[in-house]
Amino acid sequence: MQNSLFIKAAFSQPTHRAPVWLMRQAGRYMKQYLAIKEKYTFLEMCRTPEIAADITMLPVDLIGIDAAIMFSDILVTAEAMGGKLRFENGVGPRFDNPVRDKAGVDALIVPEVSDKLGYVADMIRIVKERLNGRIPLIGFAGAPFTVMSYLVEGKSSRDFKITKQLLHNEPKLAHELLSKIARVTTDYLNMQIAAGADALQLFDSWAEALSWDDYREFAHDYVAQIIAGLDRKDVPIISFCKGSSVFAPLMAEAKPDVISVDWNANLATLKKTLPAGIAVQGNLDPHILYADKKVITERIHRLLDSMKEENGFIFNLGHGIMPDMPFDHIRHAVETVKEYTWEK
Ligand code: CP3
Repeated sequence: MQNSLFIKAAFSQPTHRAPVWLMRQAGRYMKQYLAIKEKYTFLEMCRTPEIAADITMLPVDLIGIDAAIMFSDILVTAEAMGGKLRFENGVGPRFDNPVRDKAGVDALIVPEVSDKLGYVADMIRIVKERLNGRIPLIGFAGAPFTVMSYLVEGKSSRDFKITKQLLHNEPKLAHELLSKIARVTTDYLNMQIAAGADALQLFDSWAEALSWDDYREFAHDYVAQIIAGLDRKDVPIISFCKGSSVFAPLMAEAKPDVISVDWNANLATLKKTLPAGIAVQGNLDPHILYADKKVITERIHRLLDSMKEENGFIFNLGHGIMPDMPFDHIRHAVETVKEYTWEK
């Protein structure tokens, strides 16, 4: 895999074009995904290695991306620790036992990951066989702050009011919770590497809610701890958060190989501020994919033009594909990136 465009770019080596994959590339914008989803609940799909492998392969076969990302969810770690997780259609994730006090934190376990999450390792092995060396497979996990926010709120939140109250009023308890999640996450990612994941992405999707100091104390430190704890040799680590336009210098201190950037920043300008050897991934505004194809082409060319001089660039969106985005727009976007080559 070391010769794949994606792995080369992740390690800041020159490539003749930018590799491309898209966050939420396996999902509801595909009728093939919706057909599978008619038969199973979301968690059944995640927990059944053959089905999760089938879904992982959909964008490989249908849109031709340069890296696959395993089909799962960031909240499976929280579930493995004792969170009572369910997904409500149209609402999203729910924990029926929100964690808000010492008893709640103490009740969470640090499980043997192969016991509780072995189904993910099984799925990785199946996908690797099916990919047969064509492109790399990205494994992933939620970063502790984002996972904590779901455990504490019990559901998606707009303002993270209860989570922030816990951070601010009971920082010691918050750190206990974050440490537990970080331990499970490190073990979980090491399990993914052992099963064959070629790269890993940490999703700290909602870190943008935090101030700089709180980001450092409650998010960054745990991401750094996890990255330092990975037994990874030649497996690159991608650090993603919304808010990366601001937090990128701190994110770099955790020593990921790649920082995945939201769409607020000028990517080329931001890249120049990072230490050498840290690649960037991003950062098209996902909503461009709702626009006309002509606009999609123009905006993608604009981004690629701006990154021409840089090694270490992986094309992606600033965040995920939305369920109602037109399938042919997404395929058009991937083709546009793949047709654009540069001399290096
Ligand atoms: O990117 C991929 O294609 C890989 C699969 C993947 C999913 N979730 C599948 C999924 C990944 C990488 C995730 C990560 C994830 N899950 C994040 C971080 C990434 C991000 O988007 O910021 C978060 C915050 C979650 C938690 C989560 N899972 C939410 C909030 C929801 C509901 C969202 C919604 O719009 O309904 C999910 C469900 C989910 N995870 C779906 C998929 C395909 C939709 C499930 C369905 O089909 O109903």
